[in-house]
Amino acid sequence: DKGGHKHFMAKEIAEQPAVIGDTLRHYLSAAGGGLTLPQPEMDFTQYDRLTLVACGTAYYACLTAKYWFEQLAGLPVDVDIASEFRYREPPVPARTAAIFVSQSGETADTLAALRYCEGRAAKILSIVNVPESSIARESDLALPIHAGVEIGVASTKAFTCQLTVLLLMALKAASDREAIDPARLSDLLSHLRGLPSTINNTLELNEDFRKAAYQLSSAENALFLGRGMMYPLALEGALKLKEISYIHAEAYASGELKHGPIALIDEKMPVIVMAPRDALFDKTVSNMQEVMARGGKVMLITDAPGAAAASEDTWLTLTLPQVDPILSPILYAIPAQLLAYHTAVAKGTDVDQPRNLAKSVTVE
Ligand code: M6R
Repeated sequence: DKGGHKHFMAKEIAEQPAVIGDTLRHYLSAAGGGLTLPQPEMDFTQYDRLTLVACGTAYYACLTAKYWFEQLAGLPVDVDIASEFRYREPPVPARTAAIFVSQSGETADTLAALRYCEGRAAKILSIVNVPESSIARESDLALPIHAGVEIGVASTKAFTCQLTVLLLMALKAASDREAIDPARLSDLLSHLRGLPSTINNTLELNEDFRKAAYQLSSAENALFLGRGMMYPLALEGALKLKEISYIHAEAYASGELKHGPIALIDEKMPVIVMAPRDALFDKTVSNMQEVMARGGKVMLITDAPGAAAASEDTWLTLTLPQVDPILSPILYAIPAQLLAYHTAVAKGTDVDQPRNLAKSVTVE
């Protein structure tokens, strides 16, 4: 049942305020803004290092979480693609917790990476959407993301719910390790509680994204740029666009632009820049100017202060609500999804069942 939407993907995008609200309700106690986690408790003072392993979109959730665990909790994080991790046979240092993120809980490479860590990691934690899955069953602790069934092959609501649980874990780690000021913690928790309504407001910009996507749909290639926590979101934006619209898209950390990809810039290469006005914004603006000076067309996705500060020479500027920079990866997933969705619709591709792809990759 597509609930009145044209595609499951559209329905699942629209469900995000509700399902993120559910995720938050499952993890946060109702009063006082305190954090409650499922039993058995995960005490992050017992670990000196985290290893996060996943595939595809779940891997980009892990890459985002690295910024959160490191910045908020001072906990070093290694992130790896499951198919690389399992065959590299990496050492797993003592006092390492291994975290596996998977919507289906059945991805063959992620499961094999988990089995490799059995007996090697101090703790095996999984973040899954399907609680009765193999990955959940074989973990010491499985945290459900409460996204509900996801049917579209392109992951949308599972990604934002994975991010929500990972951010809650990073906040739990920060609190366990006394790395965060309690006032800042409760501030972030109250921002998190407001996130479903901010996402709702962002979804109301649907028409702006549809128009932008229409312009994007004639491109053969696209480049996504982001800095800091927006870098994994750029990767996710490029993956979504490739998967369902078949436009060749790549993502780079903005600072890498002049180390190679700038050679690709011309008027036929749209560059999608994801940049809220955070501490790194000015650096991203100078990367944008490098693109525009070479005739590149910039689609800037930012907030109102970012739109005001950016140059007027962008091809398109899309303005999202302003949120605390820690929360922006979750919010900026929405434009990444809407752009890909509307581009695919404009091109007439099979949005829910893109060619050559399966929802769950249970073989290597
Ligand atoms: O079920 P999983 O989360 O383990 O799946 C991982 C990837 O196969 C998945 O995220 C894939 O990249 C999606 N099609 C992305 O939209």
